[in-house]
Amino acid sequence: MAGNWKMYKTGQETTAFFAGFNPLVAGTANCDVVICPTFLSIPAAVAAARGTVTQIGGQNLFWAKEGAYTGEVCGEMLVAAGCQWVLVAHSERRQYFNESDAETLKKTQAALAAGLNPIVCVGEKLDERKGGKTEQVLIEQFAGGLAGLTEEQFSKVAIAYEPVWAIGTGQTATPAIAADAHGLIRSEAEKRFGKEAAAALRILYGGSVKPDNVERLMKEEQIDGALVGGASLDPQTFIKIVKAA
Ligand code: 13P
Repeated sequence: MAGNWKMYKTGQETTAFFAGFNPLVAGTANCDVVICPTFLSIPAAVAAARGTVTQIGGQNLFWAKEGAYTGEVCGEMLVAAGCQWVLVAHSERRQYFNESDAETLKKTQAALAAGLNPIVCVGEKLDERKGGKTEQVLIEQFAGGLAGLTEEQFSKVAIAYEPVWAIGTGQTATPAIAADAHGLIRSEAEKRFGKEAAAALRILYGGSVKPDNVERLMKEEQIDGALVGGASLDPQTFIKIVKAA
């Protein structure tokens, strides 16, 4: 169960979140709990979550190890700051920063080389779904962004299916729609990496996950967790989602 805080919360607000969240999440053993704050709030999150079950992740990384790349942060820096996870190719990165499938692969490889667990995001836009292109888009994103990994690399990756039309819109995918898409992604994983790898793959659903719809989503065999935006910003709300795992 992962929270993507996007461009929300200062360091102080991050500390305040964990003051409320730590006692609520104590004892959670049925799932991994991950929070991905902004780069600047990572130190505050790491300090506040130390000794708790919550793990910290970045929202993005650059594929080079170091160099003249103004404004970028690499995987090794995230690890040094205390991160264990990183989001790759969130649809907002694809939409506003033109990230491509080829870059997704490079970033995923860089994350793995640094020792991070990548959560690689895929998902179709509204016009693509309306145009009957959902399958094609997911297959292309898998082929370009993930199929180039080795089997060993792939075993450390989680995938988040986030239909773009469901993000921040309050319009969540129905459990059946999400399960269909997850099934398709899992079958692509099986074709490329084999049955065992596909069965072990964790596929998270993201897009308007809230306390009142999470249980129905989690009942689907194909759905292994959630990547939560808005509803991860408040401790009382996010803990209800974590408990549904
Ligand atoms: P919301 O939960 O706010 O719809 O955001 C989903 C998302 O993009 C998580 O990465």
